[in-house]
Amino acid sequence: MSYLPASGRYDRMTYRRCGKSGLLLPAISLGLWHNFGYVDRLEDARAMIRTAFDHGITHFDLANNYGPPPGSAEANFGTILDQDLRPYRDELIISTKAGYLMWPGPYGEWGSRKYLIASLDQSLKRMKLDYVDIFYSHRPDPHTPLEETMGALDQVVRQGKALYVGISSYSPEETRRAAQILKQLGTPCLIHQPKYSMLVRDIEEGLLDTLEHEGMGCIVFSPLAQGLLTNKYLKGIPQDSRAAKSHGFLQKEEVSEEVVEKVRRLNELAQKRGQSMAQMALAWTLRDPRVTSTLIGARNVAQLTDSLRCLEHTAFTEEELQQINQILA
Ligand SMILES: NC(=O)c1ccc[n+]([C@@H]2O[C@H](COP(=O)([O-])OP(=O)(O)OC[C@H]3O[C@@H](n4cnc5c(N)ncnc54)[C@H](OP(=O)(O)O)[C@@H]3O)[C@@H](O)[C@H]2O)c1
Repeated sequence: MSYLPASGRYDRMTYRRCGKSGLLLPAISLGLWHNFGYVDRLEDARAMIRTAFDHGITHFDLANNYGPPPGSAEANFGTILDQDLRPYRDELIISTKAGYLMWPGPYGEWGSRKYLIASLDQSLKRMKLDYVDIFYSHRPDPHTPLEETMGALDQVVRQGKALYVGISSYSPEETRRAAQILKQLGTPCLIHQPKYSMLVRDIEEGLLDTLEHEGMGCIVFSPLAQGLLTNKYLKGIPQDSRAAKSHGFLQKEEVSEEVVEKVRRLNELAQKRGQSMAQMALAWTLRDPRVTSTLIGARNVAQLTDSLRCLEHTAFTEEELQQINQILA
């Protein structure tokens, strides 16, 4: 049976303007870093993408190296587009990135023009797309002139291979310079993708101000700290969790007693708010209007629908915010 998206999908989501651009992004976007590779079941991945789109998630975030193996999340996403979503291409914002190791030799990672352009060509082939909506420099390259990396981003827009460009994990100073260079080239820097959650708050100390000043949007990754900010680790490490998997990026050592104790107390507050721990953690990342979108991961449809319900209660009282700060201190 061919897939028919839910007709009320755009009433279920809120959309926020990405910096000073013309682009609106869903408050919740779905990332394909984990759980969408060849090591995972394609049917689960397909069900999550359908559910996401049915709930108004228009933005799917990928990178050349997502899998494992690297490249397989893009290839699987291409297959799912063929099965379900190709007719809705104009309703989708698809992003990919290049920066981390993708192939051997001196041109398979970092920020040279050679690597970025070859990588985007490979990504487009894997997803069977003519263009992506957003192409990112995945990380700053200390050995390549920023002018070259930003020049490559400008070039892919002029080639029609990307509509917008962004940067990820750049410092506030690097962000300012990147934005300036891109402005001079005539291709504005649309968005920054930094890590942000209750457990990782660096962007509050400068980056958000920089983004506001530059008119850039902000999509925050790992808002659940890879699952730490859910109730799953309160009674040990479940076998099917990311921390238990050999290819998961969350290390067992990160599930420390100190973190688990904080989450236990946060979870009590979430319950008082009538939310799951995950829902409160996600709502919290959206409390600053400069955060355009919170970029979640999910392993199955149940997690995704649980997380989506964070939108039912996004407001925090001053007292709640203070309590959260006290617990995190
Ligand atoms: N730019 C970058 O350098 C960069 C780096 C990292 C990520 N990202 C992007 O950010 C996206 C999200 O990252 P992330 O996967 O680390 O995000 P996350 O939302 O912090 O963690 C997702 C994980 O949390 C658990 N989870 C999710 N919803 C849950 C729920 N409602 N209840 C209980 N557990 C739940 C699942 O882990 P279990 O499998 O343990 O159940 C899931 O795989 C990535 O896919 C990628 O697009 C970008």
